[in-house]
Amino acid sequence: MISTSRAVFLSLALASLARAAEPVSWFRDVTPIFKRSCNGCHNPSKTKGGVDTSTYAGFLKPGKHGPSFVAGDPAKSPLIAEVIGKEPSMPKEGDPLSATEVALLERWVREGARDDTPADAYSTRLSAPPVYDAPPVINALAISPDGKWLAVSGYHEVLVFGLPGLRRAGRWMGESTRIESLAFSPDSKRLAMAGGAPARFGEVQVWDVATGNESAAWKIGSDSLYGISWSPSGDRLGVGGADKSVRVLGYPGGKELVKFDNHSDWTLQTAWLPGGGRLVSGSRDRAVKLIDAASGQFIDDINKLIEPVTCLALHPREESVVYGGAEGGLRIYRAKENQDRTAGNNDVNLVREFERQPGPVQSVAFSPDGVWVAAGLPTGEARIYQASDGKRVATLPKQEGAVFSLAFAPDSKRLYTGGFDGQLREFDPATGKLIATSQVAPPHAAGR
Ligand code: HEC
Repeated sequence: MISTSRAVFLSLALASLARAAEPVSWFRDVTPIFKRSCNGCHNPSKTKGGVDTSTYAGFLKPGKHGPSFVAGDPAKSPLIAEVIGKEPSMPKEGDPLSATEVALLERWVREGARDDTPADAYSTRLSAPPVYDAPPVINALAISPDGKWLAVSGYHEVLVFGLPGLRRAGRWMGESTRIESLAFSPDSKRLAMAGGAPARFGEVQVWDVATGNESAAWKIGSDSLYGISWSPSGDRLGVGGADKSVRVLGYPGGKELVKFDNHSDWTLQTAWLPGGGRLVSGSRDRAVKLIDAASGQFIDDINKLIEPVTCLALHPREESVVYGGAEGGLRIYRAKENQDRTAGNNDVNLVREFERQPGPVQSVAFSPDGVWVAAGLPTGEARIYQASDGKRVATLPKQEGAVFSLAFAPDSKRLYTGGFDGQLREFDPATGKLIATSQVAPPHAAGR
């Protein structure tokens, strides 16, 4: 009779023998090695040597010196040459791969370097609409220019309402776990979303508002995207990102027309100036940059670099923007070259500085008539100012947790707010009076 421990040992040994006979799997065996030792330098946004080890499709693309592997021939595969030997050249930093790991890679190449990535391996798409046990944090809020639709970020989905009356009109799902920004096209026919899954992928989605059909879903880069905006003619989208970039994408094709890499920190907002020739971007690096939309050329910082830019909104008609900062600043700037700066004054575009806000400004909006500026605050308050003289005209009653998003109705007679507590509130901006509070999360029965 065999004792239990010997039986366990035997079955383990048999299992590993059986495994040894199985071909090496790209997905199960190779990707964990790459993930730990290689992807840090070889991913879609950082392709050292032109090599991307983060997906099979990426790894298949030749690097600067040609293909990384020759299926079936380890001796001709740079992948193996780079990791083998006493002082392997890869990983360039960190511990060399173990002999077992090198052997696995070698065998994977010899066995044909096949791709066995499951179809849904990188998908975070839900199979059914989410059911909310707690109201979703409202990161983003948008109202269509024709005043007929209001869109709110949910979890993995955009919740769409008809106005007036907040009729539930749609639940538009996607792969993004976080929805960071929403924008309706100037003709109100499309809704664009920027978001993604932090440290995994960025995504832009566009829906046809009349039908609720998804007209585009583009995975972009390997981190979340922020601050989406439509060009005035609706043929391009501007989007910022945790990868510090500003991208201009063609619509409907999705072609990347510009990738602007002049910021040194996350880019949280983009906005197009009238005419569509230029856009501005606001970043945690403290700059609001003016960019030539066609060439991607950096034109100038429009502002003096004072504090991280957390939110930004365009004036409805003029070439100016209002931005909120991480240290409580709230300022209007002309959106043009900072040309006449002198040693004494290097903030020549500053139009107005509002009173200091209690903490980082979370959201900001211009009313469509250009009369008001609204700011959402971490304290749960939102404040309304007169743009012309900076006077505070109303303080909205506190909600629980920060106000992450604000949107005015096109007639400027209503202001909607959303934030941490997941409630949509409707205010009269002239008086600051609360008109209605609504749950954005669908009732449970409807969610199942
Ligand atoms: C710290 C960064 C870093 C890490 C980690 C790293 N690499 Fe590299 N890798 C580079 C750089 C930089 C180059 C460009 C090499 C050069 O031109 O000298 C490169 C180039 C390569 C090339 C192309 C070689 C050629 O023929 O041009 C391959 C293949 C490669 N790396 C594989 C790997 C693998 C496999 C790992 C993980 C085991 C890895 N790298 C980890 C930085 C890194």
